[in-house]
Amino acid sequence: MQYVSATALPVLTYWACLASVVVKAAAPSLPTPCGELSPACLQRALQTALPGFTRGFPELGITPLDPFVVDELKLVLRGGLQIHFYKGVAKGFRNCQIGSANMTGGVLEVTARCNLTVKGKYKSSGRLLLFSIDGEGDSLIRAKELELRAQVALSTRSRGGRAYLQVDGFRSQQQYRGQVSYQMTNLIRGSPQLSRAVLAFMNANWRVVAEEFGDPIVEFGLAAIMENVKKLLDQVPVEDLLKSV
Ligand SMILES: *[C@@H]1O[C@H](CO)[C@@H](O)[C@H](O)[C@H]1NC(C)=O
Ligand SMILES: *[C@@H]1O[C@H](CO)[C@@H](O)[C@H](O)[C@H]1NC(C)=O
Repeated sequence: MQYVSATALPVLTYWACLASVVVKAAAPSLPTPCGELSPACLQRALQTALPGFTRGFPELGITPLDPFVVDELKLVLRGGLQIHFYKGVAKGFRNCQIGSANMTGGVLEVTARCNLTVKGKYKSSGRLLLFSIDGEGDSLIRAKELELRAQVALSTRSRGGRAYLQVDGFRSQQQYRGQVSYQMTNLIRGSPQLSRAVLAFMNANWRVVAEEFGDPIVEFGLAAIMENVKKLLDQVPVEDLLKSV
C-alpha cells in the first residue's frame, strides 16, 4: 500500500470499486473492495477519487482537469452566433460534489454539482437572442450549482491476456440550479454603452443565455473528462486496479 502514491490511491480505489463488479463474473474469487457495488460505495469512492483524478497523470499522458486549459474552442450556436474562445482556463472540477451514483446493467450513472468558472478571451459575431453581437474581449463566466448527470456504458475487453475496462457509450445532461453570471468586455465592438446594456441583459436573463451558450461549453468540458477516463482505463488493466487497493 505504501508504494502507491497518495494521489493515485483514491483514484485506484474508485476504479477498483467499479472494476470489481465487472470482473466478478469472470473471476469470482477476486477481492471486491466495495462489497456489493452499492450506490453509497460508488458515491464515496467517486468523491474520494475526484481530486486525484482532476490533477491528471502526466506519466500516462493524462492532462490536468483543474485548472483545465482550453487553448481554443469554436462554437456555432443554434441562432447562428459564432463564438471563438481562446486562452481559456476552467476551474472548479476538483471540488464538485458527487450527489449519487449507481451501476445498473453495465451503465454507470452519476450526478454531481459543481461551482465552475471559465475565464478567457473571446471573439464573436452573429445574433444572441435579440442582439446582433460583434465583439472581442475578455470573458469570465461563473456557474453556481451546475448539476451534471452522466451515463457511462462500460464493458471489459482483453488485450495481451489482460482485462481492461472500456467505455462503450456516454451521455450527459446539465441543469443550471444556481445563477450563472457573465462578465464580458466589448460585446459590441467600439460601443461600451451598448456592450454594458447587452451584458446587463445577459445577466438578467442568465438562464436562457446559459441554455443557449453554456450547454456547448459544458459538453466540451465533459467530453474532455471522458477522454481522460478512457485513457486511464485503456492503460491500467483491471487487475492492477484491484491489486492496488
Ligand atoms: C439510479 O437508479 C435509479 C433506478 O434505476 C434511477 O432512477 C436513478 O436516477 C439512478 N441514478 C442515480 C445517479 O442515482
Ligand atoms: C458553491 O458555492 C456556494 C457558496 O458560494 C456553496 O455554498 C456551495 O456549497 C458550493 N457548491 C458546491 C457544489 O461546491
